[in-house]
Amino acid sequence: LFEVNLKKKGPEIQPEMFGVFFEDINFGADGGLYAELIKNRSFEFHHPFVGWTPFGDVTVSEENPCFERNPHYVRLKEKGSRRGAGLENEGFRRMGFRKNSGYNFSFYARTPEAGEMKFRIELVGSDEEIIGRGEILVNGPDWKKYSVSLKAEETDAKGKLRLILESPGVADLDHISMFPSETWKNRANGLRKDLVEALYELNPGVFRFPGGCIIEGNTLESRYQWKHSVGPVENRPLNENRWNYTFKHRFFPDYYQTYGLGFYEYFLLSEDLGAEPLPVINCGLACQYESTECVAVDDLGPYIQDAVDLIEFANGSVISTWGKVRADMGHPEPFNLKMIGIGNEQWGPQYPERLKKFMEVLREKHPEIKIVGSSGPTPDGERFDYLWQQMKELKVDLVDEHYYRSPEWFLENADRYDDYDRKGPKVFAGEFAAHHASRDNNVRSAIAEAAFMTGLERNADVVELATYAPLFAHMDAWQWKPDMIWFDNLSVVRTPNYYVQQMVGQNTGTHVLDIQQNGSSIVGQDSLYASAVLNETSSAVIVKAVNASSEIKEITVSLKGLKGSIQNARVEITELHSNDPEAVNSLDNPNLVVPVFSFVQTDENSFTINARGNSFYVCKLKIN
Ligand code: AHR
Repeated sequence: LFEVNLKKKGPEIQPEMFGVFFEDINFGADGGLYAELIKNRSFEFHHPFVGWTPFGDVTVSEENPCFERNPHYVRLKEKGSRRGAGLENEGFRRMGFRKNSGYNFSFYARTPEAGEMKFRIELVGSDEEIIGRGEILVNGPDWKKYSVSLKAEETDAKGKLRLILESPGVADLDHISMFPSETWKNRANGLRKDLVEALYELNPGVFRFPGGCIIEGNTLESRYQWKHSVGPVENRPLNENRWNYTFKHRFFPDYYQTYGLGFYEYFLLSEDLGAEPLPVINCGLACQYESTECVAVDDLGPYIQDAVDLIEFANGSVISTWGKVRADMGHPEPFNLKMIGIGNEQWGPQYPERLKKFMEVLREKHPEIKIVGSSGPTPDGERFDYLWQQMKELKVDLVDEHYYRSPEWFLENADRYDDYDRKGPKVFAGEFAAHHASRDNNVRSAIAEAAFMTGLERNADVVELATYAPLFAHMDAWQWKPDMIWFDNLSVVRTPNYYVQQMVGQNTGTHVLDIQQNGSSIVGQDSLYASAVLNETSSAVIVKAVNASSEIKEITVSLKGLKGSIQNARVEITELHSNDPEAVNSLDNPNLVVPVFSFVQTDENSFTINARGNSFYVCKLKIN
């Protein structure tokens, strides 16, 4: 028996509490959310032909380039050979084409010698069949952008792109790009529609970006620099990706950050999703797993200026330096940034020493912006008391905690925040995921996360934000698992863990309600976990309940303190369940585990559900 007390409204819940953490890991940005299909479009990878197969006379040059910060380009010379001179691009583990869909191809070109020159562009299927074609005529010695729209005649998840110079002579090409004509909101330089839709359906309250360890970089030189990620996309300089992770890719990297999906696009996406943006920037430390490199405390000036300028980029007027950059990119209105993270998953005394310097400046210049500090990783799931103490002394607004632990740990820690200090900074559960031994996104891990999240919700007075991590993984190019959403070049797979986040995100409350099990607040009795909230806006009581055992359990929820009776009222039930705790969703069977909707009726002021084993329930009841 669970008793929900409606007599007293509990603490307020932050509307942005449950959200999304994004990092370019597992091809999350380039090759994933960012819809560009061409890999190494600017020829700036460590070897300019990574991703490309040139044929005929094709060389690389930097002389008199088109883009100062991406100077390499290719020179094609055609002397009337049978095949011509050209290039093929393999895409990100190949390219996905959909029958009858359009593809916007473009490049920058010049013809140093006089005369018009013809290029043939081909979409090539996995069996080498040509499944789409177009032509571009190039003329003139100055760099110009040329484009053509192609239509795919077949669906193919493993296609590639070929371009061929057919006229005799010389032509230079750079920034060779191709996007599906259908992107999220059909924007140019757009995002993959199906992946953004998956995010949108989570109803996220906060959007943290751009990572993760990539904020820090393997070295300080390769840290994420937001200023490199804004302005014309062709001139955003390439950066290494810290997740060139495997032995092979460390030495022959093929995973970089083009910054095509940069801070402007992240802010815009946050706005589209209705989520509060939460950018995180480097605090003067390289990734501490990889390096001890750090900026001397007295030399942090440019790093701190990056934070100040970022606030101006997001919120400044159109006549401010960085506000103008935003306006010129198409968004004169401010993005209404309210919080910023300084440092990702940092530890040791180096971190608070540096954070202090940032805080002195930010508190003075921008007292309106909340500052998110870090408590490092959680070794053995324990708190880093040293860092927490430091965060309290520095008076940061929120502390980011990360935990990747077993499903059992998540169940045992559903009461983690029950006696957290209410007087110190608030908590941002910024990266969490239950890691089953198989590292699969299975039902067992999802149910453990749901149980843990009832604990986050019960403690919403101290836990203000929570985001699962990592978010995305490409089926053929992942470095880390489990991940919330899997995809290949054409399809998306929502995991059971995704559905837990969705059920929570779509059923938030405005106030916590007290909930007791059998007259006690002990969490996890009989493998059952629950939280209850009031949503004042929709006049609903929402109870979330988890049965982490494998047996069916009858759960009666009794509502105390209701004004009047609610006999025979309809309770909307959303259930996520599988008899098999190892069950996963896959490309072949993406809907094996999905939420199922039903109703029960109230009897007096209570209702009963027969909670099946390995299940998560959201029960919603209108109260007037
Ligand atoms: O989410 C994957 C990684 O885990 C993040 O980049 C980092 O913050 C943590 O160590």
